Amino acid sequence: MDAALFSPISFGNVTLKNRVVMSPMCMYSSVTEDGKVSPFHFAHYESRAAGQAGLVMIEATSVLPEGRISPRDLGIWSDEHIKGLQQVNEGIHRHGAKSSIQLAHSGRKGILEEDIFSPSALPFKEDRKTPIEMSQEDIKRTITAFQEAAQRAKDAHFDIIELHGAHGYLINQFLSPLTNKRTDQYGGTRENRFLFLREIIKAVQTVWNGPTFVRISANEYHEDGNTFDDFVYFASEMKKLGIDLIDCSSGGVVPARPPVFPGYQLRYAEGIKHKAHIATGAVGMITSGLQAEEILQNNRADLIFVARAMLRNPYWAKAAADDLRVEIPSPVPYERGWK
Ligand code: FNR
Repeated sequence: MDAALFSPISFGNVTLKNRVVMSPMCMYSSVTEDGKVSPFHFAHYESRAAGQAGLVMIEATSVLPEGRISPRDLGIWSDEHIKGLQQVNEGIHRHGAKSSIQLAHSGRKGILEEDIFSPSALPFKEDRKTPIEMSQEDIKRTITAFQEAAQRAKDAHFDIIELHGAHGYLINQFLSPLTNKRTDQYGGTRENRFLFLREIIKAVQTVWNGPTFVRISANEYHEDGNTFDDFVYFASEMKKLGIDLIDCSSGGVVPARPPVFPGYQLRYAEGIKHKAHIATGAVGMITSGLQAEEILQNNRADLIFVARAMLRNPYWAKAAADDLRVEIPSPVPYERGWK
């Protein structure tokens, strides 16, 4: 059968050989605690490319030291980070996969010694540090940090950039009325709450003309949070700005435990795809080739992001191909080992 999961797709001049994406996952494994990659990262990412994922996305990587979640996060706030990331990319590209990096800033969710920042001085939880309300100057500095990070991502040979606008981290803190209580041009209406992300996208585009994805949390699991209609508005604006794909996750803005079941976030990828007319990525408990194939064949999303299942099995894409009875190249030339 012709499996949609193993059909190529192009974003601008980047063609993915299939629709399987290694979803970004923080590994908290920068042993030097200065944001640099370690031998762990080379093995970790290259093995998923060897396992035939079409796109390997590097974990949330911080654009500023204070934007890390933990001291062991990866960083891209200085030119010193470029070389290691370039080496990670060499490993990924060796197997015909494309690579992406998720550019991130944790805002009020950082668990760090340093001061942390947010659009408003509201802690994530009672027992967490209260963030400093960002001044206009702080906002400018942070937008420039995303721009410089995009330039470094280009220098490190990434094919695609994803901006982390989900899970209650800084960009999400601006988007959400639960965390953004500002009275200046960055707060209030949804148009204003979108301004920070709009300015980041525009700044990134001055140095980067490759495909750009944005991950959003399309449900905040709170009655006063953004509505689905708000997310359709944000996605439509991003389409106008030239964003290639919305990666549809949910939650993390305020402490909440949403119900989790196979495909629990799929309705957001499907809804945004059809309402904002933009390509989407589906993520969340997608664990088998058959499940992924159903999503694509029914036109519910364009890419399948796999996180925990690919942590457990680096060769997840190969296993999915077996599920679907599709012949794809073996992870290593010794075919017999994979039959
Ligand atoms: C994650 N997730 C995540 N998401 C993201 O946007 N950036 C990140 O850096 C991380 N980090 C991370 C670490 C670990 C250990 C896990 C398990 C998850 C969320 C992840 O990408 C995915 O959206 C969810 O795990 C749901 O997909 P699965 O695991 O059900 O396939």
